[in-house]
Formats: sequence, structure tokens, C-alpha cells
Amino acid sequence: MGVYLDNAATSFPKPIQVSDAVYDFMVNIGATSGRGAYEKAMESDRLVYEARKRIASLFNQDDIKKVIFTSNITESLNLAIRGILKKGDHVITSSLEHNAVWRCLKTLERDIGISISTVECDQNGYTSPNDVEKYIKKNTTLIVFTHASNVIGTIQPIRKIGAISRKYKIPFLVDAAQTAGVYPIDIKKDNIDLLAFTGHKSLLGPMGTGGLIVNWNKDINPLKSGGTGGDSSYEYQPNYFPNRLETGTPNVAGIVGLLEAIKFIQEKGIDNIFKKEKEVLAYAFKRLEELENISIYGPKDIEKIVSVITFNLKDKSAEEIAYELDQNHGIMIRAGLHCAPSTHNVIGTQKIGTVRIGIGYFNEKEDIDLLVQALKKINNQN
Ligand code: ALA
Repeated sequence: MGVYLDNAATSFPKPIQVSDAVYDFMVNIGATSGRGAYEKAMESDRLVYEARKRIASLFNQDDIKKVIFTSNITESLNLAIRGILKKGDHVITSSLEHNAVWRCLKTLERDIGISISTVECDQNGYTSPNDVEKYIKKNTTLIVFTHASNVIGTIQPIRKIGAISRKYKIPFLVDAAQTAGVYPIDIKKDNIDLLAFTGHKSLLGPMGTGGLIVNWNKDINPLKSGGTGGDSSYEYQPNYFPNRLETGTPNVAGIVGLLEAIKFIQEKGIDNIFKKEKEVLAYAFKRLEELENISIYGPKDIEKIVSVITFNLKDKSAEEIAYELDQNHGIMIRAGLHCAPSTHNVIGTQKIGTVRIGIGYFNEKEDIDLLVQALKKINNQN
């Protein structure tokens, strides 16, 4: 089986209910949703509706129709960013963005002439919300922040940044890739206008699922055009939700799996899930200190981060460590830049990258013992 410590990339394993539900849907139901009036199609509709309702309640969105399903969070972020920004607009973002946001912004800067301001943070990834305000201009049309860094884990002060966005009536988009499912998010209390989430990380669902929660009343230009299952003679995307932004056959099997995953999370309780992860995280920080020549980046305060630890060992590259951990010890982690090069500028590892462990709900302290034992061997340490 090996030891899986790459939960920041995708969670594994999933609760057994998830695969059972996907299997049951594929074998016993199989019909598409939103397009048929026969019994199985209506069962498919019901399941998608139930999933939408669960997700709305999880993030405190009253209007179920404003839960938009996408195929992943990259699509959700592209949908929000491209749907709002136009030529000449200005956007404010963090120094810790994943390429899902950063490449999207850079592409629009090059292709349509938007401008970007990046809010500085310190080496631990701490951002001061007041620094956001100083970048606001007349043409600022969007503020987009990651909720937590996928490299060093630092949780961003989104509620305060959201309050600033509200003051200036600028929509606030949050990338919750590393937090949804493990950290409480309330779009109302947190002042979030657009929440992008993925289903396959801490929400414990299948890959190919994700979405955008819309809590903003102005228009978002659809990313795609096509069939929605209704108003077929109208030649453009309809103006109502979710169909305005949701096009093509949905991933119903994935959505059904996600529904079961969220039921699992709500039964356990997000706080209990995070508490368990934090126990393993604290243990990992303590045990990693036994390694000679280790440099750990980012905050070592478990209250300020999600469950990732990023480090290097002095005499080996991150890639060599990842390779040896996998080939000789059956331990799965991620090495490199983690699709977030600007975060490596912050911690000074842009040329060398780092090793990252991502702890999930199903990891135990024994996994950390095996990791530390293996790293000691790689480090030629007894
Ligand atoms: N963004 C994912 C990660 O951090 C894939 O590994």
C-alpha cells in the first residue's frame, strides 16, 4: 500500500461511501441530469440537486442555484476571473497564488491588457489586510486571494480582506483549494463574493469535481457556450442560474461521489477533522526536527496553517528525496515548485524547489514515524 502523504495534491484514500456511491450510480442509474423526464433521469436530477443543496449549506449560500458545478477548481477560477475582467481592468492578488490563478491573470495581462498588483507578504506568508487597501484604484475590478498557500500552508486573513472588498464594492474571489472541507468557510461571515472549491482534496470526493459559489449580483460572462437541457431554441446562454454558467453534460457520477464525501465530513464534523490533522501535523513538526540539515519553510504554528510541511535537506535535491522515498520506502510526497512559483520567491527556493508533505484525515502518527525513519536513511543519519 505504501504511505500516502500527498493530500495537498489530492486526498487519498477516500471514504468508502464515495466509491460505493459512484459505482452504484454507474451500474444502477447512469442517466444524465437536467435533460430527461424518465425515472432514472429524474433520479439523476434528484442526486445533483441534493449535492447542490449540501454544498450550499456547507458554505452558507441560501440560493442553491448559485452553486455552479465545474470540472475542477482551475475551471472555477477561470470562470470567475475571465467572466469578470475586461480590457483595462485592474486586479489585486496575493504573493502566494497557485498557477490556476496566476497563469490566468498573466494570460489576461498579455492578451487583453489587464494590470495586476501583488500584495506583499513576509517569509512566512503572512499578509496584512491593510496592504490590500493601498493597491485599490478606480479601475480595480477584482480581488482574488488564495485561502491558504499550497506550499507553506499559511492561512490568509480572508474575512478582513473581504471586508475591504465590500467597502469598495469590488468582488472578492477566494481560492479554497486547500481549505474547503477542512477549514470552516462561511461566505456571508467571510465576506466572500465568489468561492472556488475543488471536490477531490479535503472535500474527499472524486477528481473531476469542483465548483464556484456565486454570492454576487452582477453578471459573470460564461466561460463556455452549449447545451443546458432547456430553452434550446434560444441561441445564447440563458440568464438564469445555474444554467448560465453550467454547460454540457455534468459529471453526475463524480457529483454523487462528492455528495457522499460531504455527508461523511458533516457527520465527522469539520472541526474534528481539522483537529485530527493538526495532531499529526504537530507530531510531524516535532519529529522532523530530528533531521540534521533540514530547512523547514513557512510558519511552524499549527494554528496558522493547513496541514502541509515544506522542507529541504541540505545535500540532496527535492526530486532525489522524492524519488528515494517512493522507490526505496514506498512513501509518496510531492517535490518541486508545486505549481506555485511565486510562493518559492517568497521563501527563497525558486531555483531548487522543496519537498512537501500533505497530511490528510486518514494519516496517522505512524506514517510520520515511517517518513522520518526513511529521511534519516536518505540523510545518512542513524
Ligand atoms: N495544486 C495541487 C498541489 O498543490 C495540485 O499539489
